Amino acid sequence: MQALDTRQLHINQKMRFLTGLILSCLLSLSLADGSINPRRFPKTLRIGVANAAPQIEGAWDEDGKGETIWDRFAHKHPEKFVDRSTPDIACDSYRKYKEDIALVKAMGLDHYRLSIAWSRVLPTGYTDKVNKAGVEYYKNVFKELKANNIKPMVTIYHWDLPQPLQDQMNGWLNESIVDVFGDYAKFVFETFGDDADWWITINEPKQVCQAGYGSGVFAPGIVSNGVLDYVCTKHVLLAHARAWHIYNEQFRAKNKGQVAMVIDSTWYEPGSDRDEDKAAAERAIQFDLGIYGNPLFNGDWPEIVKQRVADRSEREGFNTSRLPEFTKEQIDYIKGTSDYLAINHYSTLLTYHAPDAPIGTPSFDKDKSVALSHRSDWTQGSADWFFDVPWGLRNLLNWLKNTYNNPEIVITENGFSDTTGTLEDENRIVYLRGHLSACLDAIFADKVNLTGYTVWSIMDDWEWTGGYTSFLGMYRVNFTDPARPRIKRKSADYFTGIMKARCLVDESKCVE
Ligand code: BGC
Repeated sequence: MQALDTRQLHINQKMRFLTGLILSCLLSLSLADGSINPRRFPKTLRIGVANAAPQIEGAWDEDGKGETIWDRFAHKHPEKFVDRSTPDIACDSYRKYKEDIALVKAMGLDHYRLSIAWSRVLPTGYTDKVNKAGVEYYKNVFKELKANNIKPMVTIYHWDLPQPLQDQMNGWLNESIVDVFGDYAKFVFETFGDDADWWITINEPKQVCQAGYGSGVFAPGIVSNGVLDYVCTKHVLLAHARAWHIYNEQFRAKNKGQVAMVIDSTWYEPGSDRDEDKAAAERAIQFDLGIYGNPLFNGDWPEIVKQRVADRSEREGFNTSRLPEFTKEQIDYIKGTSDYLAINHYSTLLTYHAPDAPIGTPSFDKDKSVALSHRSDWTQGSADWFFDVPWGLRNLLNWLKNTYNNPEIVITENGFSDTTGTLEDENRIVYLRGHLSACLDAIFADKVNLTGYTVWSIMDDWEWTGGYTSFLGMYRVNFTDPARPRIKRKSADYFTGIMKARCLVDESKCVE
């Protein structure tokens, strides 16, 4: 989750806010007039829902599954979780997967994004011990999807590192993880290559690294802000590239699939037309998204990230930059290893220049150095960085198109989180309609090559440190009932309707 960004909201310059308000009004007017795009969804646009094993499956230690860093984190550090909850049972999808798939089917969706729990299939993290029951579980899930004509989109790693790999080798901080992850990915392609062809190697590496090994708010809770988080970032990119090369060389000819890494980003809108605010917005997106996107699509770290981290590292007394360098071979090895651009997007923020923090303890946020704000009329979700701003998604899609040479783009997550859990979830309907309309604007007016849109999520789930207190589902899950019933929200009916019409406006007004 993009929870990290929360801590960055520290703007108090009122004058700037007013300038930003006027400017962003003008910008939003120029990009979209707020009306809903009446075009029929193009046939090339697949629409689905997403979730991830650790957030829905439960059965955390059943049938041979190994412990993950999130199991350990939740059991040992309940204080890190808003409601002191664990993923032990979650939605119980380990047992109820058929029911979940039936909901997806009833909604008329094209695809279902799920993740494979590494430690359910390989409990030690290595390929020496295969858990047959785990393999069978996913085989059954794929069988059920096929029987219902729903295309799987499979995430190989959604943050749930097997605990032994953290204990024995320091997880993503050890370069050997590249080999270990490569072996795991190869095992997945070998075992499930006939069941799926739409692959995601790693979900939201920014959260894996900055939250897991930087601020330490996520598992495994290592605190090394601005130092080891960058080491993790390098390893994650190399591990992704390893998996892509394995697929490319050994599986692509037979399985004919596509492999990408999911990057997440807020859209950072310049808070004013001042050059320094425009530069701040560009800097923010380069630190959050470009740090992954640039190596994958253009090669090497973004220049601004290299410069700033090197400069601050030197002034802090480091002999070399805290941002580890890539060798020429590594740059070439990573570049071009994304068959499509997979993006998770939830929110937009206004971005302003912030004076450089004094030299002292290093941190990722000091390296990035921006100030963030929002407009008071934006509808807020469950976090202080979460706002419903559809034109932000359109701007982000255009930025990706222009920065990475018009790649095929798939939105792998987008959705509205609230804290009430209400069944009358009007805000979610407005959010989804607005964001899908922004997608149609981007496709038809801006010629963005967008081929997929994925809602997070079909049902409520275990929202990491947010536990069971932040709701994103089109179905509510009653987590206090042992049967974990799924209860329809208004948005489920809304989404079923638009999937039927494949249009956001009244059928009679839909434009082919
Ligand atoms: C993550 C999901 C999470 C979602 C909603 C994304 O950042 O990939 O695992 O549940 O945000 O909070």
